[in-house]
Amino acid sequence: MLKGKSLLCLLDFSKQEIEKMMEVSFQMKNFHMLRSVPRSLDGKTVAMLFEKPSTRTRVSFETAIRLLGGNPIVLNKSDIQLSRGEPVEDTARVLGRFVDGIAARVLKHETLELLAKYSNKPTINLLSDLSHPLQALADFMTIKEKFGEYTSLTFVGDGGDNVLVSLMAFVAKMGLEIKVASPKEFKPRDDIMKRIEEEAEKSGAIIEFYEDPYEAVRGSKVVYTDVWVSMGQESIAEKKKELLRNYRVTTDLMRYASKDAIFMHCLPAVRGEEVENEVIDGPQSAVWDQAENRLYTAMSVLSLLL
Ligand code: CP
Ligand code: NVA
Repeated sequence: MLKGKSLLCLLDFSKQEIEKMMEVSFQMKNFHMLRSVPRSLDGKTVAMLFEKPSTRTRVSFETAIRLLGGNPIVLNKSDIQLSRGEPVEDTARVLGRFVDGIAARVLKHETLELLAKYSNKPTINLLSDLSHPLQALADFMTIKEKFGEYTSLTFVGDGGDNVLVSLMAFVAKMGLEIKVASPKEFKPRDDIMKRIEEEAEKSGAIIEFYEDPYEAVRGSKVVYTDVWVSMGQESIAEKKKELLRNYRVTTDLMRYASKDAIFMHCLPAVRGEEVENEVIDGPQSAVWDQAENRLYTAMSVLSLLL
């Protein structure tokens, strides 16, 4: 049911399709442990285009392609003609003639839409200014591993964050619950928030915004944060840091969450800024499991879409 589709945003998928991606992620983890990964990408080539740096996404995705028997081609923007002004449309048309799928980390989400449209090949979002769907899949996989089910979570920090948008999209589609503690200045793009709210209405999901982080984390099983200054936001860094200074995840804040709460962060983190060292390096931190699960969700999505 998913073959040939692009993954630009989780909102484009049904609950059943997202459940399938999760189910296959768990299977892939098992296959990987047993060293019996199916070669479902045998003979297939995937181009991975990067307009911004990456560690986890780059390595997990390239490893996933290789484990499934496919061939990755990593293209850093500075190495290709895109950096000299060749239009995205033309780049997409050419890539589409060579490869079976495209994955891209882009400055502007619209670039992903152009890549998908003009390549005519399944295109996968490896992070844009708008969203980071593969991250949200790995995060909910981690939550399910820790608690045996998808629990509610609280996101503390930048209310317009790209990872948060994908977490909210997952919650909205699956009928779950998320609380967001953020200064009122930071909100996702209006059009995407409207789509998230429409989906939440249909599924019965609960999405609540708070200004007080203490109120938002009370009793929560998962406390999640991301950097205050995302890639591409360097020019507004000082303003964001000023507005977010009361939204640091501290050991004190964690005391208000559930006793068995976990701390999550997509990484990379700025220790001492959005999170205290004692939290990210402490016993409640699930950040390395989250990072590891990026591999299995990448394998799942690749095997299902390609
Ligand atoms: N979480 C994540 O996407 O990390 P990278 O920027 O290292 O890929
Ligand atoms: N919000 C961060 C996520 C990095 C994985 C960024 O876009 O820089």
